[in-house]
Amino acid sequence: MKGMTMRNILVLAAAGGLAACVAVDAPERAIDPADDFAAYCSACHGAGGTGDGEMAGDLAKQPADLTLLAQRNKGVFPTTKVMAQIWGYAGMKGKGVMPNFGPLMEGDTVPYDGGDGIETPTPVRLVALAEYLKTLQVK
Ligand code: HEC
Repeated sequence: MKGMTMRNILVLAAAGGLAACVAVDAPERAIDPADDFAAYCSACHGAGGTGDGEMAGDLAKQPADLTLLAQRNKGVFPTTKVMAQIWGYAGMKGKGVMPNFGPLMEGDTVPYDGGDGIETPTPVRLVALAEYLKTLQVK
């Protein structure tokens, strides 16, 4: 196994020897917003987004119930506002209650119209996450 890159070594380590040869040539992980939500949001906002994450009790501010975003906005999911919230926090470098979501802002961008008729180059992972949040909204 010569010429392995650091990344391949990490992948192998993560795979714990399981199907090691397959893992070496595995493509980049596909974007799964449910994974991103679990990794970056659920600790505070809860697995279902209702604000009951395990860290919620330790915070000075109660995490918002993300399933009520549409209901609290006259039934319309406030996509642009939500994205600005997440994106804005990325620029705050951890000064807000929520952590820096830098990794979500990296990678490819797509032209995205959040509902205001203006297409803005937006990181695909952020778009996917916003679309995922839409599916959590209570009717
Ligand atoms: C460290 C805990 C924590 C994490 C992790 C976290 N949040 Fe939050 N979030 C909060 C708290 C607390 C609030 C309410 C106070 C505030 O806005 O700062 C909030 C507010 C929000 C709001 C505003 C809701 C409203 O009523 O306008 C949105 C949207 C949001 N979070 C989305 C997310 C998303 C998406 C993620 C994952 C990428 C995430 N949050 C991760 C703690 C967290």
